[in-house]
Amino acid sequence: MLRLPGKLSAEKFLADHWQKDYLFMPQALDRLRPAISRNELGWLATLDDVESRLVFTNRSDGRVRYHAETGPFDEEYLAALPKRDWTLLVHDVEKHLPAMRKLLAHVPFIPDWRIDDLMVSFAAPGGGVGPHQDNYDVFLCQGIGIREWHVAMGSVDEDPDASDDLALTEEFQGQQHTAREGDVLYLPPGVPHWGTATRACITYSIGMRAPQLSDLVAEFLNTDENNPFYSDSDLNPGEAQSGRISAHAVDRAVRLLGARPNQRAEVAEALGRYVTATKDWITPEGASTGDAAGILERLSQGASINVHGMARMAYDEHSIYLNGRQMPLPDRVDTFVSELCATRRIQGPLPAIGAIAEVVAWIAKSGGFALPET
Ligand code: SIN
Ligand code: CO
Repeated sequence: MLRLPGKLSAEKFLADHWQKDYLFMPQALDRLRPAISRNELGWLATLDDVESRLVFTNRSDGRVRYHAETGPFDEEYLAALPKRDWTLLVHDVEKHLPAMRKLLAHVPFIPDWRIDDLMVSFAAPGGGVGPHQDNYDVFLCQGIGIREWHVAMGSVDEDPDASDDLALTEEFQGQQHTAREGDVLYLPPGVPHWGTATRACITYSIGMRAPQLSDLVAEFLNTDENNPFYSDSDLNPGEAQSGRISAHAVDRAVRLLGARPNQRAEVAEALGRYVTATKDWITPEGASTGDAAGILERLSQGASINVHGMARMAYDEHSIYLNGRQMPLPDRVDTFVSELCATRRIQGPLPAIGAIAEVVAWIAKSGGFALPET
């Protein structure tokens, strides 16, 4: 877990900062491990199923402008980039390189289903994405190099001249923080910020996801014109159990939707499906019935099977959710499911509980396991 500054406990962080107030945490982490190199990040950005962007900073004519290009990029193009004023950003790194998932464990006081992805950026000196605000909470963990952050204390106007794909705000000074390796900046949604590399740097962003009203099922939609995000500024650390969507989380979704108490079960399922939904281009394929039987067979022989790096899994009181699908949670299986969410690995042989075999077969058919090459 990251080291919170002073005597701040996880409870106090959640009460005073989570979804409310930004926090710069010097030396919250030791050297970031596992780390990724500029070359590894560049290699990911050449792949078709990886979402990547390059943002260039143009400092001519006495004003700063930014423009973005989307990947995949040619290896030669990346190798020929200038010495300064660009940044390469790669999303969902932990899904492509499952070993990187370890970094997500630095925020154990946040329920894991709230985490969307690990985004990693490499910025050449002078590089950055420009002043902007995000809709989601983020923990920006500084790897090698140095980044100068600016965080606004209030709202900042949009930059009308910025291109639509970047949605930038006007430049502002705000509070400044120099981030070196191990420093972490926590930002709640909607806080304008920008960070420029003063020395080539790598930043690891643990970004959250939260459904918007319209992301949950259409039949619950009330007539309200605005479309607020799920929020949990009253989150307490007891809710952060591996894979578990707490009853409080469902209550919050019920309130967001203005649903009736008798619609609670449907709301819970809509929430579970949404938070485990995968992006189309990183959705693992489900196994055939034969492959699923093969997995059970291998487990019975004592093999271990890994959860697929791209799979998203969660459960609540009544259901298991995987990659946007739902299955009723059988009795006596919640501990098994919670451990699977925590370790992302099953060691055979399975306990002699029929319902566990049923759950494992369903997970296999829903694309939950990394199938060994045959
Ligand atoms: C980054 O450039 O790595 C951080 C992007 C951000 O400010 O959200
Ligand atoms: Co941002």
